[in-house]
Amino acid sequence: MPYTIGLHAASTAFLSAGFATQFTVAVIVFLAIILTTSAFQKDGVDAPASLPGNSLLAITPFFRRRYDFLNWGFHATGQSIFQFQLLRNTVIVVSGESAREKFFTAKGLDLTEGFKILSGAIPMVRGVTSDLQVRRIAMIHRRLASVQKNASLTALIPHILDDSRRIMESWGTNGRFDPFDKIYELIFQITIRSLSCTEISDDPALVSRLKTLYDTLDTGTTPATVLVPWFPTPAMIKKLWATKEIYDIVVKAIDAREKSGIAQNDTLQMLLDAGDEKLIVVGFIMGLLIAGARATGTTASWLMTLIGGHPEWRAKAAVEVESLLASYSSPSSSSAPHSLASRLASIPLEAWESETPVLDSIIRETTRIAQPHTAMRRNLGPELYINNKIIPTGAYVIYPFSDVHLDPELYPDPWKFDPGRKEPVNTPFGYVGWGGGKTLCLGTRLAKVELKLVTAMFVLGFNHSIIDQAGKPSDTLPVPNWNDILLCRPPKDSFYIKYERTRVPL
Ligand code: HEM
Repeated sequence: MPYTIGLHAASTAFLSAGFATQFTVAVIVFLAIILTTSAFQKDGVDAPASLPGNSLLAITPFFRRRYDFLNWGFHATGQSIFQFQLLRNTVIVVSGESAREKFFTAKGLDLTEGFKILSGAIPMVRGVTSDLQVRRIAMIHRRLASVQKNASLTALIPHILDDSRRIMESWGTNGRFDPFDKIYELIFQITIRSLSCTEISDDPALVSRLKTLYDTLDTGTTPATVLVPWFPTPAMIKKLWATKEIYDIVVKAIDAREKSGIAQNDTLQMLLDAGDEKLIVVGFIMGLLIAGARATGTTASWLMTLIGGHPEWRAKAAVEVESLLASYSSPSSSSAPHSLASRLASIPLEAWESETPVLDSIIRETTRIAQPHTAMRRNLGPELYINNKIIPTGAYVIYPFSDVHLDPELYPDPWKFDPGRKEPVNTPFGYVGWGGGKTLCLGTRLAKVELKLVTAMFVLGFNHSIIDQAGKPSDTLPVPNWNDILLCRPPKDSFYIKYERTRVPL
């Protein structure tokens, strides 16, 4: 009895204590859990080598400086495969050609389960995000395929170009910007346009609010929000709140559409017409925006940066788009020149997809050099072997894309942006920028069309180059920072894109 009274008194004291005390107690409890759980680790003979030192040391760098941490792990163990603990979870990091092949093809390695625990971008909310069972996820993926059918994608093109024109006009005739702000904002708008509804995408204030909320989800990921998601840290509460607000915005838009009874030509209508339950519709919009907007935004920001620093590739891209316009767009009369957006809209989807080798190679090289992805899986069983080391059922397995995309054997001078470089042949999964084997990106078609349209608008509507903080042409070009797992962003303010409108009316 005194024991329970003691506990009760302690909890009352905790609840009435100030934030600083609560925080300190929370940190002590958190550390105690980690120390207790990590004290019982034992390695078998065929277990991957464990990182030296206490597993506690692994947690922060895994989330904050992942590229350096994983490289250090390979170096410190001297192995191509090693393991470390994240609380009670065993995480095994693999590298090399045969490991990569197994990683992308083994039946038991599951992306959804791996993503759930190790990413932590979306708080798992019962009834909204955590209960999306396999059946519902499969349905969402089917709907994503429908959005990318020829007719739907073709219908989207003029809207994407129109959004691009409106936003690019707001940039004025010249100036400088940080691509991770401005290009990312533009991609967010067109991704919302592609995946949701007019009620949201026609309302710039609402889109901007959503972007802030998604940023809260992405950047609010701390070691604690991932490892002990049930623990009400301030970051977790902020994330939960942001999730609720996104949910409310999406549900409000769905309700407004259903109430109005007026059909629109957009993705929400397609979902409603298919008779999907609300959870699918909400899951589609909320989940795919997380998967799609960030990856496409990162790629587009880097693409503009890289071609800004390599004028020869910028020029090649411009020539390619001009030649498409010459083939497909009707010449405008001089009294009323057609806008660039409307001329680009007359290029058919098929041409965007099969007659743009330069844009394709620029996109491929950008996703090789500036996509700091670490693929994550959970082994749902049975146990399997990678590089002769055991991967137990239940373990998490991760594969850093740097292992293949920055491998100098496959890509000589790997940090160099060279869209003309030879693709590795006879190397299984020598490029995995859109996934590989069992797991391929399901938004590839949409993402590539978005990237091509925005690039076409930018290279013909503007001239641009890279400048330093003082506004001078940059001596050194920005280098992708793989430790930033979201944007691969170099230090803020280390460079800008300088731009100037051409004579072509947007
Ligand atoms: C430039 C933009 C993008 C890039 C570079 C990209 C890349 C990738 C990669 C590498 C994977 C596999 C991840 C892994 O193996 O761990 C993936 C998966 C996925 N992507 Fe993308 N992605 C992009 C845009 C999009 C967009 C716009 C959407 C949706 C509209 C999307 C939806 C998905 C989905 C749903 C998966 C998971 C597939 C599964 O569960 O099997 N992606 N993406």
